[in-house]
Amino acid sequence: MQENFSLKPYNTFGVDVNAKYFIEVHTIEELKNAINYSKDHDLPVLFLGGGSNILLTKDFEGLAIKLSLKGIEQEDLNENEVLVTAKAGENWHEFVMYSLKKNYGGLENLSLIPGNVGTSPMQNIGAYGTEIKDIFVGCTVLDLENIELKTFNLEQCHFGYRDSIFKQEGKGKYVILEVSFKLTKKNHHIKTEYGAIKTELDHLGITHPTIQDVSKAVINIRQSKLPDPKVTGNAGSFFKNPTIPLAQFEDLKQKFEHIPGYPNGDVVKVPAGWLIEQCGWKGKQIGNAASHQLQALVIVNATGNATGKEIYNFSTQIINSVKEKFGIELEREVNII
Ligand code: EPU
Repeated sequence: MQENFSLKPYNTFGVDVNAKYFIEVHTIEELKNAINYSKDHDLPVLFLGGGSNILLTKDFEGLAIKLSLKGIEQEDLNENEVLVTAKAGENWHEFVMYSLKKNYGGLENLSLIPGNVGTSPMQNIGAYGTEIKDIFVGCTVLDLENIELKTFNLEQCHFGYRDSIFKQEGKGKYVILEVSFKLTKKNHHIKTEYGAIKTELDHLGITHPTIQDVSKAVINIRQSKLPDPKVTGNAGSFFKNPTIPLAQFEDLKQKFEHIPGYPNGDVVKVPAGWLIEQCGWKGKQIGNAASHQLQALVIVNATGNATGKEIYNFSTQIINSVKEKFGIELEREVNII
């Protein structure tokens, strides 16, 4: 265990705050010991996965536990399907690449998402027409109340858009240890409906894409507009795309005829990136924080020296101006600590 430990390398924003105590755990036993230590010493705990969806706004006066449980296992389910289980500390993109190398289908649209496998169910990670709920079978967690293992199946996770039980009533109650996915071994379901994928495949001259081709297209698209956290600190989309009532959308359409929207029954999902850009934030920098010049929904640590508070205040200014111009209240997607 380390004391007064900088968390800068452990959050993709690259914010420099200290944890009073820090420990990296590789097994369930080590994790249980760390949790018991925190209970005995009355310390709050902060679990760190890939650190790609958190904004640390101040020093953490407790025990930060970095989850580094590793390993991938597989089990044939039938001729066409395989159950693949990965431990929480596996890097998400490496896990996707591992599956694609084995020609297992289902994860290809989720290529290059930062973070680890263990945090993927928290917010039901999704991109380019796929969410993990589409292939998720279950996860094993540690219940922090009684330090016992427990499993959650698909239904019990209550997955929604960037949402799950782990962000709602289960918040702070469990640590996800491993996650299982049902993947295809053949007759893969190729998903290219998401506009940009088709365009990118055309660009690559591919007419009958494999799952590996879809992955390549997704990687190209992401690399073309999302900043690489290794180069510029960021946590992907900072806000969720808001859902508004159809009537409100119709009203807005009168005033802003080009407002994009994806209707779903009597609600419409509006791209937050568009709203933010319309308020003049795209590429704008205040101090060390900025809205990314190619994707307004992503806030970046522009100089590498931004504090968490600075990024948080920047996000508040964006929320205020979107609210003022469109009457829509943006919700942060990133966890604020
Ligand atoms: N747009 C703008 N200006 C911008 C950005 C976006 O006008 O600066 C508009 C465009 O009209 C565009 C639309 O927003 O057509 C949608 O943009 P994009 O396809 O880039 O997707 P997004 O809705 O901004 C969501 C996810 C991303 C995911 C992409 C692709 C959320 C909060 N974000 O972004 O997820 O990669 O779709 O599926 O749902 C993440 O969560 O960290 C993340 C990157």
